[in-house]
Amino acid sequence: MKRNILCIGAGYVGGPTMAMLALKCPDRRVTVVDINAARIQAWNSGTLPIYEPGLDEVVNACRGRNLFFTTDIGHGIAEAEIIFVSVNTPTKTFGQGAGCAADLQYWEKTARLILQHATSDTIVVEKSTLPVRTAAALSRILHSGESAVRFEVLSNPEFLAEGTAIADLANPDRVLIGGADTPSGQAAVAELAELYGAWVPRERILTTSVWSSELSKLAANAMLAQRVSSINALSALCEATEANVAEVAHAIGMDARIGPKFLRAGVGFGGSCFHKDILNLVYLCETYGLTEVANYWRQVVLINDYQQARFVGGMVRAMFNTVADKRIALLGFAFKADTGDTRESPAIRIARLLVDEHARVVVSDPRALANARTDLADLGDRVIFEPDPYAAAAGADAVAFLTDWKEYRALDFPRLLHSMRRPAFLFDGRSFLDHEALFRLGFNVQAIGRTPLSHL
Ligand code: NAD
Ligand code: UGA
Repeated sequence: MKRNILCIGAGYVGGPTMAMLALKCPDRRVTVVDINAARIQAWNSGTLPIYEPGLDEVVNACRGRNLFFTTDIGHGIAEAEIIFVSVNTPTKTFGQGAGCAADLQYWEKTARLILQHATSDTIVVEKSTLPVRTAAALSRILHSGESAVRFEVLSNPEFLAEGTAIADLANPDRVLIGGADTPSGQAAVAELAELYGAWVPRERILTTSVWSSELSKLAANAMLAQRVSSINALSALCEATEANVAEVAHAIGMDARIGPKFLRAGVGFGGSCFHKDILNLVYLCETYGLTEVANYWRQVVLINDYQQARFVGGMVRAMFNTVADKRIALLGFAFKADTGDTRESPAIRIARLLVDEHARVVVSDPRALANARTDLADLGDRVIFEPDPYAAAAGADAVAFLTDWKEYRALDFPRLLHSMRRPAFLFDGRSFLDHEALFRLGFNVQAIGRTPLSHL
């Protein structure tokens, strides 16, 4: 029997994930719902609500055929036999666990909606990243009514990274499915595995207990973020010792046990998830009385904060200990290249720290300027937004690269330099430019994890 699929939450995960599912399973009807009408409208328009390379093509291939976006959540639930829950699970900002625990209000409201509208037995799939043992709470809510409808709760965390979401979804390292060790639980696991089996090789579809699956998602993000904080911690030592962090990363990455990926030093990790998921892990550890374990993971976040403060400190020091009234162009505001997403972007904190120093900050980004305006709205006219990087740099004392957009590598640097005030400073927060060449052009170059190249 071919089953109707629903996804609640049309965000960075729900939209692309369901578009890929619809593409690979043309005989399934896939509906994505959201309470945000503007977002749904955008999914139905020529301008999708998120920028993700290759996403337009996938959506255009399926939308109106077997992929639908709507705000009619109740109807969607009533029609569906498999429901993915992909709502946001941000860090709690109030009450118990504020600043650390996951805010589960959106997720719980979704559970109650499912309970209210479901008309037949349903598989409910946790796609959102959730604290371990959330599935048990979900199951309890779903079975709390009078209805005879039965629900099977699975954990199926998403591992896509923004900017490469379509490639990650088409060719995932693994698909993880956690289910209850009961006949109905295992039947539901098999059904979800069959769905993914349409395009993912069987050996890459892992099945585990629900708790292992939930924890694996938090653990994967924590381990990835930890690698970034590890190399960033070493970048500080490189600057103190005249070692070069790129050379160190290359040397250690050639050890097959360590591997070369995720060792790029920079201004720190951003994105909607690393920060919140580690804090969520920290909170979980504390809840279970594992103080030392909590402190270990908290340090990954502290190093990330330190790296941003350190970067700004280095800028101020290089520019004669004052940036007051100096024009500083921040090139790149997205938390990484190939996305317009600025959630938890290091650029937000760096911009604010520079404004605190009374710098005249100009923000530029090829995709993220609209989000940047929202993020820094409270700073009013103390920040200027300028889409053109050359206009942003004109008259500036310094340019600081905060996102490694490939178009920035191809900038006309002599033109940039020519329009700047002297001495001209270039700060490479992603260590991705050709520093020697920039120095030869006349820039004073300071990059993360490298010895500064100064004409002064
Ligand atoms: P998002 O904020 O982009 O999207 C979530 C959507 O859910 C929003 O559009 C919101 O309006 C909607 N929503 C909230 N409550 C709802 C309700 N009751 N009914 C219907 N819609 C509702 O979030 P996201 O980035 O897509 O992340 C979703 C989850 O996936 C999070 O738990 C996140 O940790 C996880 N995740 C995200 C990524 C990523 O790259 N962004 C990757 C893997 C996992
Ligand atoms: C990350 C994970 O990679 C995904 O597997 C996961 O699904 C997702 O979080 C999530 O749960 O939301 P994402 O945040 O989209 O994906 O992007 P990453 O490529 O992981 O980069 C995260 C941050 O780390 C970026 O700010 C990036 O610039 C930074 N980073 C990454 C470095 O500074 N150095 C590196 O070597 C790698």
